[in-house]
Amino acid sequence: MKKNKISISAKFVALFLLIVSLNTLAYYFMLQNIYQQELKSQAKTVVSNVESFGAWVAQNGRVWVKEGSKESFLSQELYKASCENIDEEGFVHFYSKNPALAQREFSEVVAKSSSPAKFHMTSQNVMNPVNAPDDFEKTALAIVTKTGAAEYSEFVDGQYRFAQTIYHKASCISCHGDPAKAPEDVIKRYGSEHGFGFKEGDVAGVISVSIPANPLYMKALNFVGIKEIVLILVPFIIALWFVRAAIISPIKKLTEVAHEVSTGKDTPVDTAGIDLNTHNEIHQLTLALSRMRNSTQLALKKMREARAEAEKHRKS
Ligand code: HEC
Repeated sequence: MKKNKISISAKFVALFLLIVSLNTLAYYFMLQNIYQQELKSQAKTVVSNVESFGAWVAQNGRVWVKEGSKESFLSQELYKASCENIDEEGFVHFYSKNPALAQREFSEVVAKSSSPAKFHMTSQNVMNPVNAPDDFEKTALAIVTKTGAAEYSEFVDGQYRFAQTIYHKASCISCHGDPAKAPEDVIKRYGSEHGFGFKEGDVAGVISVSIPANPLYMKALNFVGIKEIVLILVPFIIALWFVRAAIISPIKKLTEVAHEVSTGKDTPVDTAGIDLNTHNEIHQLTLALSRMRNSTQLALKKMREARAEAEKHRKS
């Protein structure tokens, strides 16, 4: 069979390549797990920051600002004053921002910043159309609403997308429950159609995070340098050297001797320094070959003697 013509060295190299490929695959899967865990923990950190910021606003009821966008606020109050930023009638305007509104503005600032991680707060029933979900968020909302999952993640178009479910508490229902009972300023600015009808414990929406994530195989190339390649090759070279020095070369030598013995030559087998109780298989083979050579030589000698004897008898 053709297969049997392949040398041990060649088989060893093939075996090594197979082992390295399987190991590489195993390391790749492990790296992928670590990478995903890492992305998830980054996303969770972003979510906690957004939630903490919302909690800070909630702690103060609302935050009130004197300047800034005249479009983005929940309510406004006017005070007669003689400071800067007063209108023609001498009123200074204060605008209030509730947590969700402040979080949206925060997300808009982050979207324009250099931060690679962006976030967005959205719902299946948005009060402000600006917060409408994108395709990933629609999927995430459908899944978390259906399964009750606390989070959902996916790789989409070179981005790691993560969504964390937020639930309505009793305090949220004053604005997101029955529109008839909602604060006047909410109805005035957002109408009474969208973002209402929730009950305590309902899925309020998700905080979704996007982080750029190249496929791991592209990143993996950056992890493999000269040092890593040397560390993979050195053990292979040592193993190959061992196989050649301890097995292949001695076998070649023994094959030559066996061949010469088979042709009747009186070639000595070098057994110097070999212990008769050796556990080294090659040494055992050498001893066996030596014994075989001795018996062959003996048999040959006897045969020659017998032939000489016969010759003598024939002549006499
Ligand atoms: C003071 C009234 C008020 C309360 C209380 C309130 N919200 Fe809102 N919520 C709003 C307003 C107003 C918006 C729209 C903000 C904007 O313009 O982006 C909003 C937006 C949201 C959004 C984004 C999607 C959308 O509807 O536009 C989510 C999610 C949300 N709120 C969840 C909650 C949760 C959870 C709570 C309780 C922890 C809560 N809200 C309490 C008024 C309120």
